Amino acid sequence: MKERIAHICSLLPRARVFADIGCDHGYMTRYMLENCLCERAYISDISAESLRKAETLLKDEIAAGRCIPVVAYGMEGLPEPCDCVLIAGLGGEEIVKILERAYLPPRFVFQPMKNSEKLRRYLVAHGAKLERDFTFCEGTVRRKYYDVILGRAAGGDTYSEREFRFGRDNLNGNSPYPFLYRAREELEKTEARLRAAMQGGSREALLKRKTEWEEVIHEIERTL
Ligand SMILES: C[S@@+](CC[C@H](N)C(=O)[O-])C[C@H]1O[C@@H](n2cnc3c(N)ncnc32)[C@H](O)[C@@H]1O
Repeated sequence: MKERIAHICSLLPRARVFADIGCDHGYMTRYMLENCLCERAYISDISAESLRKAETLLKDEIAAGRCIPVVAYGMEGLPEPCDCVLIAGLGGEEIVKILERAYLPPRFVFQPMKNSEKLRRYLVAHGAKLERDFTFCEGTVRRKYYDVILGRAAGGDTYSEREFRFGRDNLNGNSPYPFLYRAREELEKTEARLRAAMQGGSREALLKRKTEWEEVIHEIERTL
């Protein structure tokens, strides 16, 4: 199992009814069922072809009625409310669209591939409590970074602008390292681009980005 998938599995909470939206292969649902973390699980994907992979992986669970496959956009095909919903590997904007067309699940685990800031803003604006919001990484030399957000529909939250931008637990000392590595890499890339950009608006934008990365690195380093 890929490190990203294993990491997400380790974060999944217990649920009565679980749904894996955009399930594709279905590995995360297999983990939920194998570890008795839910009574039943919906595996849902917009693509019947993608869903077939999960149906093959989970054929025994489907036959036993513990896993129900659905072809649908987002959460639209779910025949009952789910108390925990996982949406992983999709863009943050797409996750927001899915939520707009459905509801905010009582518990959620979202792993956006990009646009995490948009997703954070949507969740907080809609009264969610973000319990964990951090970056993890896969690999050691050539690292890949992923954001993950766990929370509840109710409870409410207050986020600062920097927390919206970068993820709260990356800044407050709860989970400093993966994001610190990412920030240092981003600073290096920005500096390299600055060396290549001679003048004009792009240089100004790069200088602004450089300052932003420097500031966030200092902020995290102060928590170590
Ligand atoms: C990159 S895969 C991610 C698979 C798995 N969730 C993971 O994290 O490894 C994205 C999957 O989401 C499905 N998908 C994309 N947009 C969707 C939507 N709006 N509703 C349901 N499924 C969607 C795709 O068909 C694809 O199978």
